[in-house]
Amino acid sequence: MKIHTYERFWLAGSMVLIVAFIVTITYGTVGLGITMIGDEEEALPPGEIDEDDRFEDPRVEQVGENEYEAYVVAQTFLFRPEPIEIPAGNEVTFYVTARDVIHSFTVVGTNTNTMVIPGEVSTMTVEFEEPGEYGVICNEYCGSGHHDMEGQLIVHPEDEFDLTSIEVEAPEQVDPDEEFEIDATVENGLFEDLETTVALEIGDETLEEDVTVPGESAETVTFTVDAADLGEDDHDWTVTVDDETESDTVTVGVDEDDEEDEGDEAEAGDGDDDGGADE
Ligand code: CUA
Repeated sequence: MKIHTYERFWLAGSMVLIVAFIVTITYGTVGLGITMIGDEEEALPPGEIDEDDRFEDPRVEQVGENEYEAYVVAQTFLFRPEPIEIPAGNEVTFYVTARDVIHSFTVVGTNTNTMVIPGEVSTMTVEFEEPGEYGVICNEYCGSGHHDMEGQLIVHPEDEFDLTSIEVEAPEQVDPDEEFEIDATVENGLFEDLETTVALEIGDETLEEDVTVPGESAETVTFTVDAADLGEDDHDWTVTVDDETESDTVTVGVDEDDEEDEGDEAEAGDGDDDGGADE
């Protein structure tokens, strides 16, 4: 049988097209990692988000040598935590849920994109190779502020990434001749030890202390300050650890607000005494 050259050409061409269609459809279905929001996850009623271990405090956690988990809450019209900070070159699994209505969690310029449904937890495991800042947007219409709903994802170089936080306890008011303490608790969320310096700036003094915080734990550094050196006044203080800071004010001397309060209490006390006398 003789097949005409043109006919052979069209036959071969359509075979190639059919194969190409099958390949692209298969790739689009499985190759891109697009999945439905898992129904194997237990439902999480939006009212219970604040009682759920994962979402009561939206955060990023280290769970393995090169593995992290990010718990994200989408709500009108923001994402928490803000910003979301992760290390480059590590596997990060995002767990995203919604507090109120349907949103999406879409990292601009990437294929990290999921619908976020109240009551459901959307899960995605991704790895960002390049450090950088990415915008996070919502692409499901969710209300009047939908177009303003944005978050931020910061991908840090692996060696610059930390999960350090500080909490400072300091008195609001001290007597002028008193020595007082400022406690800075440094929490290290990474598996690796954290070697760093805690600095306290108060008055024109800077006190520094080196500290080593073992992985997944916290250490408290105590600074002792002599109020007599500061003098009677309001003094701002700042505690700095790496790029974390916390600041507030300590009043040396008698706090005026306190004085008023004490005055009120004294009056109230008098009233009681009078009442007693009448009886
Ligand atoms: Cu949230 Cu649109």
